[in-house]
Amino acid sequence: MTLIEKSSKAVKKKCILVTGGAGFIGANFILNWILERDDQVVNLDKLTYAGNLQNLEKIEASNRYVFVKGDICDSGAIEKYLQQYQPFAIVHFAAESHVDRSIHSPEDFVRTNVLGTFTLLEVARNYWLNLDAKRKTEFRFLHVSTDEVYGSLDSDATSFTETTAYAPNSPYAASKAAADHLVRSYFKTYGLPTLTTHCGNNFGSFQFPEKLIPLVILNAQEGRQIPIYGDGSNVRDWIYVEDHCAGIRTVLESGVPGDVYNIGAGNERSNLEVVQTICDILDECLENAYISKHRSLIQFIKDRPGHDQRYSINSQKIENELGWRAKWNFEDGLYETVRWYLQNQEWVNNIKNGSYLKWLEKNYTEREV
Ligand code: NAD
Ligand code: TYD
Repeated sequence: MTLIEKSSKAVKKKCILVTGGAGFIGANFILNWILERDDQVVNLDKLTYAGNLQNLEKIEASNRYVFVKGDICDSGAIEKYLQQYQPFAIVHFAAESHVDRSIHSPEDFVRTNVLGTFTLLEVARNYWLNLDAKRKTEFRFLHVSTDEVYGSLDSDATSFTETTAYAPNSPYAASKAAADHLVRSYFKTYGLPTLTTHCGNNFGSFQFPEKLIPLVILNAQEGRQIPIYGDGSNVRDWIYVEDHCAGIRTVLESGVPGDVYNIGAGNERSNLEVVQTICDILDECLENAYISKHRSLIQFIKDRPGHDQRYSINSQKIENELGWRAKWNFEDGLYETVRWYLQNQEWVNNIKNGSYLKWLEKNYTEREV
């Protein structure tokens, strides 16, 4: 079936428009939404290197799912799809999302994350203004952001709350921060019913293997070096992607327009701890492994410039006000994730094309071991 045929599927029920739904979190969100809710989903995605329609194969034939190829910087296309599908909400995931890539090519991040979010807001505002009173009240624009906008914490500092001052350190974090400010301004100035969520590092199925956890799993599986930046003491606050998706659904359905919600699972781990845990799971799961002790593949390499030391999320607001709570403990989620990558070799092989290998070469040959 061609992309054009897919986009001509009729949507008759209530529907949401998801941007960036072919990426890691967006795809998990759509798969969960189709399971948990009755509404239809229109997935608008540009299909960059990070977008992969294979992630959504399971629901491809569903009459509750439509894919349209489009760029959030293209106001005409967004306007057309809003008019055609009349969504009651936009859930905005589309972004350039990898810190290391933002160090090499920051302009892509400004284009998609800043200009793209602005374009989407502007088209959404015009669409929303022309809705009838009931639909206008119901409409929501949910912007998915990151804890990285708050900057880096010392080991004894208190966790990020929704009122922590912004201090982004990478071009990625700065571009997301700029987008957050635009979203805020569209609520304050125009009354567009926006919601913003800040989440920590996600892990789970369908994550592109440029990010730490899938990169470690795949390298270790092949007996290749496991690169840890600096001394491995940097701490991230990890969340299993299904918990994040459930948090977004909760905010979409019960969040107060104009409000901001942090979503975290209380899983602070150093990079070294995460990598060692993956190695131990692989020791247990992999028969005929290249080596029996995967920890021996660990190599400490040149640090990332501006590498944030620690992230930590305080989720009391979403827990106390909206009743959401993470369900997965870190080790179970990690075990599930390792199993998923080992069992989905075809997905993995399809990712390992020329452009992915080129990226690995560029990022890691520049770093001295
Ligand atoms: P991803 O890189 O896996 O996916 C991004 C998706 O957006 C891809 O499908 C890509 O094709 C699409 N896209 C990129 N540019 C586009 C454009 N101009 N128009 C339309 N589509 C475009 O990202 P992810 O990890 O799934 O992250 C999703 C969102 O969640 C991002 O906004 C990110 O900032 C945020 N976030 C991610 C994490 C994390 O740990 N991955 C944590 C907190 C917040
Ligand atoms: P990453 O998955 O890129 O997410 P983010 O930069 O958004 O937190 O990296 C997670 C952590 O792992 C971060 O501290 C950088 C580190 N890291 C490595 O040590 N080695 C690697 O090869 C990668 C990709 C990341």
